[in-house]
Amino acid sequence: MPEATLSVAHDAAVVQGYHARTRHHLNGYAAGPDTLDWDAQPDPFRRFAGTALTPLPLPADGETLPWTALFADGGPAPRAATLNHLGLLFELSFALSAWKEFGPDRWALRINPSSGNLHPTEVYLLVRGLPGLDDGVYHYAPQAHALEQRARFAPRPGPQPTQLLIGFSSIHWREAWKYGERAFRYCQLDMGHAIGALRYAAAVLGWRVRELGLSHADTAAALGLNRAGDFGPAEHEEAEALFELLPGASDAAPADPVDWLPGATWTGQANRLDPRPMYRWPVIDAVAQASRRSVRRPVSALPPLGARQTRPATRATAADLIRGRRSAQRFDRQARLGIDAFWPLLAALMPTPAEGGAVQLPWDTGGTDEAPAVHAVVFAHRVDGLAPGAYLLPRNATVQSALQAALPHLSWRPVPGSPPDVPLLELALNPALAGTLRTLSCHQAIAADAVFVVALLGECGPSLAGSPWLYRERLREAGLIGQVLYLEAEAAGLRGTGIGCFFDDPVRELLGLGAPGTEPWQVLYHFSVGLPVPDARIASTPPYPEPRP
Ligand SMILES: Cc1cc2nc3c(=O)[nH]c(=O)nc-3n(C[C@H](O)[C@H](O)[C@H](O)COP(=O)(O)O)c2cc1C
Repeated sequence: MPEATLSVAHDAAVVQGYHARTRHHLNGYAAGPDTLDWDAQPDPFRRFAGTALTPLPLPADGETLPWTALFADGGPAPRAATLNHLGLLFELSFALSAWKEFGPDRWALRINPSSGNLHPTEVYLLVRGLPGLDDGVYHYAPQAHALEQRARFAPRPGPQPTQLLIGFSSIHWREAWKYGERAFRYCQLDMGHAIGALRYAAAVLGWRVRELGLSHADTAAALGLNRAGDFGPAEHEEAEALFELLPGASDAAPADPVDWLPGATWTGQANRLDPRPMYRWPVIDAVAQASRRSVRRPVSALPPLGARQTRPATRATAADLIRGRRSAQRFDRQARLGIDAFWPLLAALMPTPAEGGAVQLPWDTGGTDEAPAVHAVVFAHRVDGLAPGAYLLPRNATVQSALQAALPHLSWRPVPGSPPDVPLLELALNPALAGTLRTLSCHQAIAADAVFVVALLGECGPSLAGSPWLYRERLREAGLIGQVLYLEAEAAGLRGTGIGCFFDDPVRELLGLGAPGTEPWQVLYHFSVGLPVPDARIASTPPYPEPRP
């Protein structure tokens, strides 16, 4: 067997072994720290000492675009690429959303959610030809809502078109500090949420977003993450992905940031987040290494952005809805959801509702040539007009037959009255599932008190064997589904909460997925939606001083 094939097979085994060993079981959780020193939590903010800081504008208060306008055919009219609009992009995606206080504790929340509010995702901007900003690489510092200049590109002669790229990395230690070995999963789920946060914010500006399929090594070089001396004893950042913002035509040739790097001058020293780490989780380094994209994926033309058919009735502005997103900590267990408000939540999860190859927001970034590989099992507890039970929303047309062959004992009946863009199937009716879901979601009440809970099933078998990096993409797809549900829950007057903690195999067994041939189907994420009960004890203050100095 050629050496490259052997190494892919090895990496696939590492990835699948990682997923298996980080399952939570009813009689024991995946390996994690035995004790946590809450007074020595890692610094939530990465900074690069010695970099020049460019504060960004905060223009979102003046935004009036309705949320539903994001889903028009082709999206809103594109706005110009300016520093002001870049400020809006970050304000609506990765900025702080509030400071919270309870007793002696004070902590920041952000526009994007994160498992345990630990925020492992770091965000970078690569820019050329934008008035007011040197061509270079910038790290986004959310607590200052400012850009730290990490690199300045060598000058080029003549007028330059504007090119804007957004890059992501993960600091595994942020999650591993609290969650141990399972942390790599959470970093990837958070990445999916971050991709969603970016896509919706760009949509407010009428900009398309295109994933550049760079190899891991090229992404790391473009973000300066391979510069070991700039990190020294500070925690490593794992390169994740690069996206191009397209304020103009979406059929322009894709940017290649590797060509921008020769002659660049770099500055900045990363801060250390945790001076005294108490544990080490080598399996995280191993799965990260094994799931790196080794080859560049050709970037194909973006699909047209299609209109969404089943939309919510909200009149909220996009900016208010995005900035108002929160995780519910408790749900009102008496609340019910009308079926008319339920359908838009599911319609939003379908990438291609329309004929003619159009794709709907936020599934239009061309990140993968594959069909959607993550599907939603919907546990409806309290949806008026839908009998309590388990339902499947298959997100591509072929998955139904594969799953149906594996699970013939389920009913597989199309749900009468579902809109054409929501191909919901009944699996099994059961009025007593709420308590079971609570147990299976690590005994969390939000899973029982929700109006519905979603378990996301991903194909993690043969497809990973030849392309182990797809493991990251499966988890990101699940995270992106979570981000859609967070925002659509707000649009429905409800609230969502991601649930990364669940007992993997018991959830699969509930669905009958213990049977031979069903091993490829793994549960990647749970998500709950309900009517929130606010916690009045927690005080909230604005994210940035007002007026901005
Ligand atoms: C991947 C992921 C997993 C999460 N898992 C849980 C969970 O198991 N239980 C829970 O109560 N909240 C969970 N959350 C919610 C986070 O705790 C929440 O996003 C974080 O505290 C920040 O608060 P915010 O979402 O209101 O900004 C999860 C969020 C994400 C993104």
